[in-house]
Amino acid sequence: MSSSFSFASFAISLIGLMAMVVPPVEGARAFFVFGDSLVDNGNNNYLATTARADSPPYGIDYPTHRPTGRFSNGYNIPDLISQKLGAESTLPYLSPELTGEKLLVGANFASAGIGILNDTGIQFANIIRISQQLEFFGEYQQRVSALIGEEQAQKLVNKALVLITLGGNDFVNNYFLLPITARRLQYNLEDFSRYLIVEYRKILMRLYELGARRVLVTGSGPLGCVPSQLATRSTNGQCAEEPQRASAIFNPLLVEMIKGLDQELGSDIFVAANAVQMQNNFISNPQGFGFVTAKMACCGQGPNNGVGVCTPESNLCPNREVYAFWDPFHPTERANKIIVSTLFTGSEEYMTPMNLSTIMALDSMT
Ligand SMILES: *[C@@H]1O[C@H](CO)[C@@H](O)[C@H](O)[C@H]1NC(C)=O
Ligand SMILES: *[C@@H]1O[C@H](CO)[C@@H](O)[C@H](O)[C@H]1NC(C)=O
Repeated sequence: MSSSFSFASFAISLIGLMAMVVPPVEGARAFFVFGDSLVDNGNNNYLATTARADSPPYGIDYPTHRPTGRFSNGYNIPDLISQKLGAESTLPYLSPELTGEKLLVGANFASAGIGILNDTGIQFANIIRISQQLEFFGEYQQRVSALIGEEQAQKLVNKALVLITLGGNDFVNNYFLLPITARRLQYNLEDFSRYLIVEYRKILMRLYELGARRVLVTGSGPLGCVPSQLATRSTNGQCAEEPQRASAIFNPLLVEMIKGLDQELGSDIFVAANAVQMQNNFISNPQGFGFVTAKMACCGQGPNNGVGVCTPESNLCPNREVYAFWDPFHPTERANKIIVSTLFTGSEEYMTPMNLSTIMALDSMT
């Protein structure tokens, strides 16, 4: 909307709006989520894949105390963002409940196991790769158009907040999966990271073409510090060196790419979140955040509870509030709350070019 938008025209358009037969999009802005298991709200429950979180103790601290497909003991990052937006959680795109008015809340297209590359996560069989997630977003828009008209649907998408979380699996479930992988033979770590950035950029441009105008982009966390990597790749109990090097190369390249993209588009469409820095804070000083440990998963087995996956037979900690990691790869709800709070109020060190509070304030003025 232009800056010459006057109060008079606002008043007139308000009257116009009230006279319209089609109900305007009301309430909180819509929210769309793309990416991997860090943000999957349950799509994989509907797929024949081994990448799933549909058995106890997943969901043990969720309001229903039952597994939902979220890779968390309770809420995940998208849930907590929805709460801050004053909205209910987005439904998985594959959920049969996602119809009618529910569509106006937004949708979650994320699928555990996927990455930037199509060959990431092939061991999980049927997962929704990012190109398919974007196709579903187009299909979603057609369904919303049929509901509220094309113009309102477009507006809903343009005004929405979008979250995309990719990259971790391209390292953990591809490049580093085995001592020798096709990608390792093809690329050194620097060149592989650069290749990922080239492909991530195409994905973000496609989101822009599909109408997204506020997109929060997260890279990987500190990959070498998750209990899984501590258990299997660390030599001295410290964060595993090679995956840490991957995060240290990939994330700054991502921020640079996003800055370039915004410059090219002439607007702050894409916002980068420094997940490494956010998580390093509680990993290096767990007690400072009320955790007893950031090295041991709550649910798992073997050293650090970091071997394999969390199952009904795994060790389970009694109090999830004092653990930073829920399973060998994913943060607890409590750690997710710290991350989301930084997304909203973090300084430039964490959020480029600005935090979500500033964005919400800016967007509420248009
Ligand atoms: C991944 O697959 C999709 C659909 O087949 C294709 O459009 C896309 O270019 C592929 N991406 C890469 C990086 O090869
Ligand atoms: C958000 O970012 C701005 C700019 O860095 C900062 O001044 C502000 O304190 C941050 N937090 C909130 C709640 O806006």
